[in-house]
Amino acid sequence: MTQIPANSVFYPLLNKQALHDGLIQPIQVHQTAVLVVQQGHKVHVIESKCGHFGVPLDTASVTETTITCPVHGFSFDLVNGRPVNREWENCDPITVFRTYWQGDTLGLAIIDGKPTQSI
Ligand code: FES
Repeated sequence: MTQIPANSVFYPLLNKQALHDGLIQPIQVHQTAVLVVQQGHKVHVIESKCGHFGVPLDTASVTETTITCPVHGFSFDLVNGRPVNREWENCDPITVFRTYWQGDTLGLAIIDGKPTQSI
């Protein structure tokens, strides 16, 4: 189990029992809207903000590897946040957060009020 950075504070998101296949759970973490998503056994925590026009991704569709914004159809890699389709158009990556476990609780490491990113 990876320890959170020494200068951070653990922010609990969900207990292990709340996780399930198909989960898309919005959670407000201080000033940041995050989404906990699970497809199959993989759990990811991302910022709920499309890299295209910044709309919330709460109603996005999710596969094991990507999340797709319902507005214009950009898809993003859930590990590195990069857009994976429509390469010919301008679009920023989404933010992917690094996750930690404390016992049965999934959470984030908060530094200066913001969750730490995975990359
Ligand atoms: S706002 Fe998300 S794809 Fe355009």
